[in-house]
Amino acid sequence: MSPEIKLEDAFQARIDDEQKIEPKDWMPEKYRKTHIRQISQHAHSEIVGMLPEGNWITRAPSLRRKVGLLAKVQDEAGHGLYLYSAAETLGISRDELFDQLHTGKAKYSSIFNYPTLSWADIGAIGWLVDGAAIINQVMLTRTSYGPYARAMVRICKEESFHQRQGYEIMLTLCQGTPEQKAMAQDALNRFWWPSLMMFGPRDAESPNTEQSVKWKIKRKTNDELRQQFIDITAPQAEYLGITIPDPDLKWNEERGHYDFGEINWDEFWQVVKGNGPCNKERLQARVDAWENGAWVREAAVAYGNKKEKESIKVKTA
Ligand SMILES: [Fe+2]
Ligand SMILES: [Fe+2]
Repeated sequence: MSPEIKLEDAFQARIDDEQKIEPKDWMPEKYRKTHIRQISQHAHSEIVGMLPEGNWITRAPSLRRKVGLLAKVQDEAGHGLYLYSAAETLGISRDELFDQLHTGKAKYSSIFNYPTLSWADIGAIGWLVDGAAIINQVMLTRTSYGPYARAMVRICKEESFHQRQGYEIMLTLCQGTPEQKAMAQDALNRFWWPSLMMFGPRDAESPNTEQSVKWKIKRKTNDELRQQFIDITAPQAEYLGITIPDPDLKWNEERGHYDFGEINWDEFWQVVKGNGPCNKERLQARVDAWENGAWVREAAVAYGNKKEKESIKVKTA
């Protein structure tokens, strides 16, 4: 047996034994690369995800709503920062990660390439998008890579606040005037299918799933998570009194789950490939923020250097 195979066997045995893998532990190169890809994609999603909601901060309908939305968007920035830090423990720099985002090499969740056209969209995003994110992230609190799993514990607590503030916006609109209720229905119509797409392609078309489950990066498949989300969300829509835009959605007593209609996978792949309604705008906003913020980074480095020089002077005096 080659030393490499022995190491791999010992690595798998640790994972099977539910031990966490830490940054300085030996790991297969593919495990490291998969994690860099997944964690950075997750970090980018948090940061790009601030854009559609940031769009409504100045137009929130009341002070209370503004405070809630501001807090949520700031939380997402924090999530991005924890996750970039977790990715850095695998030996990639923050600059490289940003470069991958800005050059289009790295992906982020396609859901953020859809526009936010009305205030109700902010409700629908909290309810559906953060709701879908929680399903995925609760699973990730038990992922095998220690820094990623620990970041998820805190993130999940904040995500459940996001989901609830979104649902509360929907509830208020649905109990309001007919126009407000129609606005909530319109937001559900536009965000329902893209939210289901957040769980990724069907299992049969998801080549990495098997390895990810073996390494306990994922503990449930895309289809299992999607079903879980639908089963939780369908009764919530019923309570709101609005209709999920899927004529095939109905409870299946035998399966103990909701059946649902066909997802438009063509739309999914188009958005992934960069042809969604807002892909260019989102990426440009990130690139502009990076370029316009260059002076802040330069000033911080200059200040750091100055402080270091001063402390050397004090020590040698
Ligand atoms: Fe988040
Ligand atoms: Fe969130």
